[in-house]
Amino acid sequence: MTDKMNPLPFNTSMNPGIGRYHSVYNESIENPEKFYDSAAWILDWYSRWDSILDKRDEPYYRWYINGKLNLCYNAVDRHANGGRRNKAAYIWVNENGAEKIVTYRGLYKRVNALARAMLEMGIRKGDRIAIYLPMIIEEPVAMLAAARIGAVFTVIFSGFGKEAIAERVNDCGAKLLITADGGYRRGKVIPLKETVDMALETISTVESVIVVKHTGQNINMVEGRDYWYHEITNDGHEVEPERMDSNDPLFILYTSGTTGKPKGIIHGNGGYGVWVANTLRWAFNPLETDRWWCAADIGWITGHSYIVFAPLILGLTSVLYEGSFDYPSPDQMWKIISYYEVDILYTSPTAIRALMKYGDEHPIAHNLSSLRVLGTVGEPINPAAWQWYYEKIGNSRCPIIDTYWQTETGGFAISPALGIGIGPLKPGSATLPLPGIDPVIIGQDGKEVGEGEKGLLFFRKPWPGLMIGINKGDEKYRSLYFGKIGSYYFTGDYAIKDKDGYFWLLGRADEVLKVSGHRIGTIEVEDAILSSGIVAEAGVFGKPHPVKGESIVSFIVLKQESASDSAVDSIRKFIRDSYGPLFVPDEIHQVNLLPKTRSGKIMRRIIKAVYLGQIPGDVTTLETEASVDEIRDAIDRFRKEIIRTAGS
Ligand code: PRX
Repeated sequence: MTDKMNPLPFNTSMNPGIGRYHSVYNESIENPEKFYDSAAWILDWYSRWDSILDKRDEPYYRWYINGKLNLCYNAVDRHANGGRRNKAAYIWVNENGAEKIVTYRGLYKRVNALARAMLEMGIRKGDRIAIYLPMIIEEPVAMLAAARIGAVFTVIFSGFGKEAIAERVNDCGAKLLITADGGYRRGKVIPLKETVDMALETISTVESVIVVKHTGQNINMVEGRDYWYHEITNDGHEVEPERMDSNDPLFILYTSGTTGKPKGIIHGNGGYGVWVANTLRWAFNPLETDRWWCAADIGWITGHSYIVFAPLILGLTSVLYEGSFDYPSPDQMWKIISYYEVDILYTSPTAIRALMKYGDEHPIAHNLSSLRVLGTVGEPINPAAWQWYYEKIGNSRCPIIDTYWQTETGGFAISPALGIGIGPLKPGSATLPLPGIDPVIIGQDGKEVGEGEKGLLFFRKPWPGLMIGINKGDEKYRSLYFGKIGSYYFTGDYAIKDKDGYFWLLGRADEVLKVSGHRIGTIEVEDAILSSGIVAEAGVFGKPHPVKGESIVSFIVLKQESASDSAVDSIRKFIRDSYGPLFVPDEIHQVNLLPKTRSGKIMRRIIKAVYLGQIPGDVTTLETEASVDEIRDAIDRFRKEIIRTAGS
């Protein structure tokens, strides 16, 4: 861990200074009601709340009680009918060089047309809809149209396969699914509609499918179920926004956890809207004329909060990009920044590390002088990547806003706050909590640890962006997040607080991996491997990876009758097709036995320790020690294979 202080050439009039940060922060903790009352005026409300926070049903927190609003109105109408009508809401670009600029007025028209089409299909407030789209304008349009009529949407990442779609749609009971014929990635067309057709074979709730024509490839349209987007969305229809209660659900987003099935995290309207809009201001302090590029995928929370809701609520112009950052050439990202004169770039450590590997000549070849602020999210950023980002991309001028947060927190939680005041940055630290966030690090004895000591990170107080629940998951909500220390929220992460009060996030303390910044449960991957049908037992863990942060390693025991030379290849293919490439392990090792407890639980801890060449720790509960030798043998075979392939 480096503790290097950086010079702060950006510490200009843009930065109000750390003194102001402390006064705002203290006010938020000491007088939260007053603080959150004024924070809420970032939104327009149909009617004001009776009270700020209702804790009666702890740990379910309800914000802005009886307040009525519509987030689509806040994100679109008030700009489209005002001074920002001709301002670009999105500059959409893709890897093939296509470009589309959509103004706030244009967004308004598109959202209204789709909202009308949804109403005509019988979708009403409270109904669930699923969105499985590439990164095209119709993706935010679909989310906003749903928010407008009060339908609860779930966005499914377009890299997921048929099983992953079916699992999510079946859990939330969506009636409508919005997809496209296909999407573009690395020069290939991803056949989204074809995947949807396969997923629908095991889904019973979906009555209609809306299909955006994007790539133009041939697809199968089912009469009476499938509708072309362009045929059912007509200009000129306006739909009155639904008056939503602050605590009505806005969306459900599935995320991995410590069990096999992903959890459907539910966010509400009022608290969520207040939180995402304020946190974007606090952390990045965007200006009216800025071009903001949150280079995440809308399928994850980062895209929901900081490509769709927060920047639109603030009336900003966003770059929306479909494709890979290093395709068609390794300087694709720098080209876009230079051409569109991006002011703020917000991306992931994995993207930074991957682009860094291509060499400095790529960013140097482009004019990146428009950049004023840089951001990162999703996983801890190693100091070397931080320095490269700071020096080579930001030209040692731009502060790096390392935002720590989660799907469950709705928006940023610990992050430098340029809009309020920042002190010296330290590479690898997310620095200080944002207003309202009250972090504490707890040790094994259940007490707060001392300075510089590692422990589990909790938040002592609720904040408006906190999820409002888990779909069909009351027990999980209580036990996973609030079951450890009183009413404290458990983040699932390890952290350290240093002598300056800065937080250093050290990775997950549970069975969750961060692979290229994507959140993946080890048990979810084990389930995927087992559902191939040819595997009897599987143990999965993450190992450090220089670019991806972590990579997935698995050890498997094949079913006796399934042993064959092609077994591993067919497992990979099965997982890729059914769940998506994200879930495919980088390494699959075959063994005859896995270390298990006498009660039959696979001991991932031991497999991982042996794999990493560490002492496996307590092995007294092992069913048979022979399993440890099995793993050693498999690793030996694997290493010899690598040496052989490298030498050939
Ligand atoms: O482990 C932390 C890591 O990502 C987890 C949350 O993942 P997800 O819900 O997918 O949300 C990602 C985007 C917000 C956290 O529990 N994480 C996120 N941001 C950081 C981070 N770890 C270190 N530093 C960060 N800035």
